[in-house]
Amino acid sequence: MHQPTRLVVLVSGSGTNLQALLDACADPSYGARVVAVGADREDIEGLARAERAGIPTFVRQVSDFETREGWDASLTTVVERFEPDLVVSAGFMKLLSTEFLDRFLTLNTHPALCPAFPGMHGPRDALEHGVKVTGATLFVVDAGVDTGPIVAQVPVVVAEDDDVASLHERIKTAERAMLVDAVGRIAREGIAVEGRRVRIGAAAR
Ligand code: GAR
Repeated sequence: MHQPTRLVVLVSGSGTNLQALLDACADPSYGARVVAVGADREDIEGLARAERAGIPTFVRQVSDFETREGWDASLTTVVERFEPDLVVSAGFMKLLSTEFLDRFLTLNTHPALCPAFPGMHGPRDALEHGVKVTGATLFVVDAGVDTGPIVAQVPVVVAEDDDVASLHERIKTAERAMLVDAVGRIAREGIAVEGRRVRIGAAAR
C-alpha cells in the first residue's frame, strides 16, 4: 500500500467535518491522514478536536498581520511545512490567495448545491429563496467564491418547518458523509481536474 495521502485541514469553527475526517483516518485502509489542522482564530472547537487527536495545529489570524498579503504568505509558509498532498478547507471562513491555490490542491466544502447560494450563508439563502432541495458541494477551490470545479454533491430535501439551524444541521450530516467518501476515494485512487471536469479514479492518477 502506498503512503497515506497527507491532509492539512483548515477550520474556523466547530470542526465537525474535520472530526469526520479524523475518525475516517483512524482506519489505515482509508488511505489518508491529517498531518496538521490550521485555523484563522484561537479557541475554537475545531482546534480542540485536533489537539485531542494529537494532531499539530497552527493559527494565523488576519488581525495579527499588517496586510492581508502578509497573512496569505504566512499561511502558505506554515502549510508548506507540513508537505500536504491535499488541503481541505472545512468550514474555513477565509478566501485563499492565488499563490496558496497555485501551490496546494485545495478542496472546500460548502453547504449548498453550487453554483446556487455561494458565500457565508448557504442554508439561510436557500431557505429564503424557497428552494425545495438544497445540499452540499465539495469543490476544487479557485479564485472565485464557491465557483471551482465540482468534486461531489449531495442533495438535502428542505422540510416545511425547517429553520436555518435545522436545515444546516441536516446538510452537515450529509456533507460529512460526502466529504469522507470523496477524500478517501481521492486518497486511494487519485484525482484529475481538467477544466471544470473532475474525475476520481484509477485513470485519474
Ligand atoms: C459547514 O457546513 C461548511 O460547509 C460551512 O461551514 C460549516 C462548518 O461546519 N462552510 C461554509 O459555509 C463556507 N462557505 P463544521 O465547522 O462543523 O465542520
